Amino acid sequence: MEQVLQQIETYKKEIDQWVIDSPENLETYRIRFLGTKGIVKGLFGEMKQIPVENKKAFGQVLNDFKQVAEAKYEQFKGLADAETAPSKGIDYTLPGNAFSLGTRHPLSLVRNRIISIYQRLGFSVAEGPEIEDDWHNFSALNMPENHPARDMQDTFYVHTNPDWVLRTHTSSVQARVMESTPLPIRIICPGRVYRNETVSARANCFFHQVEGLYVDENVSFADLKQTLYFFVKEMFGEGTKVRFRPSYFPFTEPSAEMDISCTVCGGKGCSLCKHTGWVEILGCGMVHPHLLENLGIDSKKHTGFAFGMGVERISQLKYVVNDLRLYAQNDLRFLQQFTSEV
Ligand code: DAH
Repeated sequence: MEQVLQQIETYKKEIDQWVIDSPENLETYRIRFLGTKGIVKGLFGEMKQIPVENKKAFGQVLNDFKQVAEAKYEQFKGLADAETAPSKGIDYTLPGNAFSLGTRHPLSLVRNRIISIYQRLGFSVAEGPEIEDDWHNFSALNMPENHPARDMQDTFYVHTNPDWVLRTHTSSVQARVMESTPLPIRIICPGRVYRNETVSARANCFFHQVEGLYVDENVSFADLKQTLYFFVKEMFGEGTKVRFRPSYFPFTEPSAEMDISCTVCGGKGCSLCKHTGWVEILGCGMVHPHLLENLGIDSKKHTGFAFGMGVERISQLKYVVNDLRLYAQNDLRFLQQFTSEV
């Protein structure tokens, strides 16, 4: 009996030191200790030799030993089961379902940047309807019916009411703000506009603009230039050059178009700037006195400047997108490229 007890102690040490590191190894362990011809069974077979008075105590020792052998087996079997869970349809090692965050649309990024630059100069954001009446879109802006300037902005009319159009520019918001807001006015109006254009890489039947308007006493062309210089430096960087060309808009007098040095070639000439080194980014001018009068503002006392820029054009200069249609196609391969603020 003494001998058997010693043997059990040795087995306990063996169990303690046994490193189970694979399912095969676990099976070897099971066969050695818990199998039908294994050590535990064998020890119970010894029972017959034990004198009656010691049987109880020996049984106790054997049961303890059996529990130790089984506990180790159960512990590692649990781990192995987790590893083989795929066979039960669960694989804890697979990566979780990816939670993909969307990105902002490039036009939203550019629009937000434009807004934040003008907000720093004290401009606030105004909005107006996309379905506009003739008065706010054209007539109030010095473009009466049959005015030839209307031709450049051929648009979509709402057939149930010929007085309604899809606005052709955000200048319509100028008219709405001037007729309803006390002076001084210092606003920008971002928004979508529509024109009856054949859709191509360079033209679309809708696009986006940001309009600016500042009306107060003593507002001058110098204020306009300084405001736009500031915008260009903030948007495109210190080194960007600016030039103004005289132009014509019915709602401003004098009027100008503003070009910046091409951000793609740095002014050397490339296909984007049509080899001129310059790219037009906006129209601007001093608010025509007729508009002020049309909208109830005393043009002898007040002056103002206005400008309107295309968001797609600015985005094109920032990101070099060569097909306007991409902005509205919802192609993730395109949209996922714009991950950070501009
Ligand atoms: N509304 C003009 C357009 O869509 C852009 C524009 C030019 C807006 C001059 C202005 C401006 O406010 O002063 O082509």
